[in-house]
Amino acid sequence: MAKQLRLDKYLADIGIGTRSEIKLWIRKGRVKVNGEVVTKPERKVVPEDEVCFDEKKVNYEKYSYYMLHKPSGVVSATRDNLSKTVLDLLEGEKVKDLFPVGRLDKDTEGFLLITNDGKLAHNLLSPKKHVDKLYFAKVKGKVTREDQLAFLEGVMIEEGYRTLPAKLIIQKSDDISEIELTIQEGKFHQVKRMFHAVGKEVIYLKRLSMGGLSLDPNLAPGEYRPLTASEIKYLKNL
Ligand code: URA
Repeated sequence: MAKQLRLDKYLADIGIGTRSEIKLWIRKGRVKVNGEVVTKPERKVVPEDEVCFDEKKVNYEKYSYYMLHKPSGVVSATRDNLSKTVLDLLEGEKVKDLFPVGRLDKDTEGFLLITNDGKLAHNLLSPKKHVDKLYFAKVKGKVTREDQLAFLEGVMIEEGYRTLPAKLIIQKSDDISEIELTIQEGKFHQVKRMFHAVGKEVIYLKRLSMGGLSLDPNLAPGEYRPLTASEIKYLKNL
């Protein structure tokens, strides 16, 4: 028989609110189970039941996964005393323990995965896994064939540390160059430091994809959406 849970515990597990808040909300009639208002917090439910809070369906999934188009100006942290965080952008989601998978700098935009699945995050970030991260950047000055070759060999971004080979595609080489760079690591400020190592400065940076999963073009900066079941499966199989 499917696991039975008290309704208030079920909603607390999802992270909708505290147990006492939830009891109050249930008694006020804000929760429906399979289409019917339930006012008893002790009512038993199973994960297969359809539970709605304020008419919005809530999902009793163990983990949640979102793709966020991170805008510039927010920090990739769960909380920050001064700046808005990526989790503030997902405030509408009543999900417990979300965190960003890896970090993008405050001024970097683009693909950021948000989840509460620690195992998946660990896998995607593991240096052993060599998960591709694709970036688009605008760089001050002309990016050259020499830079391309240097990145292919790996560049020293700190004493004693040479990066793994990285693929640099030059889209435009001018006073402001435009490039795409694929790296398989995620060192602090890695892309900026790689260009610094060849005497250049990144003035705009956006992550286009991670592990081959691309930023949804329908997401404007600051917008997010849940991953589809096939995207989740794909990431788990990397
Ligand atoms: N490399 C950087 O320099 N910054 C980022 O945010 C991501 C990769």
